[in-house]
Amino acid sequence: MNSQPRRVENLQTDKGKVPVYATGIVEQPWDDYSAADHDTWSQLYARQREILPGRACDEFLAAQDAMGMTPDRIPKFSELNQVLTATTGWTLMGVEGLLPELDFFDHLANRRFPVTWWIRRPDQIDYIEEPDLFHDLFGHVPLLMNPMFADYMQAYGKGGVKAHGIGADALQNLTRLYWYTVEFGLIRQADGLRIFGAGIVSSKGESIYALESAAPNRIGFDLERIMRTRYRIDSYQKTYFVIDGFEQLMRATEPDFSPIYARLAEQESLPAGKVLDVDKVYQRGSGEGWPTDADV
Ligand code: PHE
Ligand code: FE
Repeated sequence: MNSQPRRVENLQTDKGKVPVYATGIVEQPWDDYSAADHDTWSQLYARQREILPGRACDEFLAAQDAMGMTPDRIPKFSELNQVLTATTGWTLMGVEGLLPELDFFDHLANRRFPVTWWIRRPDQIDYIEEPDLFHDLFGHVPLLMNPMFADYMQAYGKGGVKAHGIGADALQNLTRLYWYTVEFGLIRQADGLRIFGAGIVSSKGESIYALESAAPNRIGFDLERIMRTRYRIDSYQKTYFVIDGFEQLMRATEPDFSPIYARLAEQESLPAGKVLDVDKVYQRGSGEGWPTDADV
């Protein structure tokens, strides 16, 4: 089921140009999904769509409907691609799991979104450590239907290729931006705060926690502030950042990041739960239930 590696880029090294291959690309083995796999999708889909109206941003829900995702069965990437490609020019590609960073960036830079083809087991309905089909498809893909978000993701991919060439610190700064926007971002709508981050919308517990709990901080988006902020991957976030709209995200990330990376290299990173005097605070978290086992 693995397709041949595809050459994605020539990397300039001191030995000359070296081809880089994208690995792990697969044809979605749709006929191989079991009844239990489809049932897992149905359960998760129905459960999230029950709680997301009024919580997820309007664009997310509208896009998900427009794509033709339903709870009935695991969607076929080929069917979704017909709508998605016609709308914003993005294409979904099946992958085995997480890709090497540079491959991932290259795909995004070319409007290809890698989606994990397999779905979690029934005993992993509430929590799974790695991204599976439900997280990738339900969580990330709908907003690719939104023209502005679609452009943001491509720009992020290009920025990733660039940061990769600059070094590990630049990559870490950029990854934090992804984490606090694409994965765990909140957005201010006329009627209040809503979710747009894929890590939140694909989790029942965090969809409620991110908006309703008194524990986490909710702080206005600030690019450099976010790029300095550490994060935890093993618990709900201590801080969520709130954008005013996708336009703000686009505008803030348009400038060349090279001078920003240089500036940030001189500054300390910030603990995930820290609130600064200059922050625009929507909510100062009570910190209740925060993990204390690490300075993150
Ligand atoms: N403007 C950024 C750069 O020069 C690229 C980028 C765009 C990064 C959008 C993230 C999101 O590196
Ligand atoms: Fe994700």
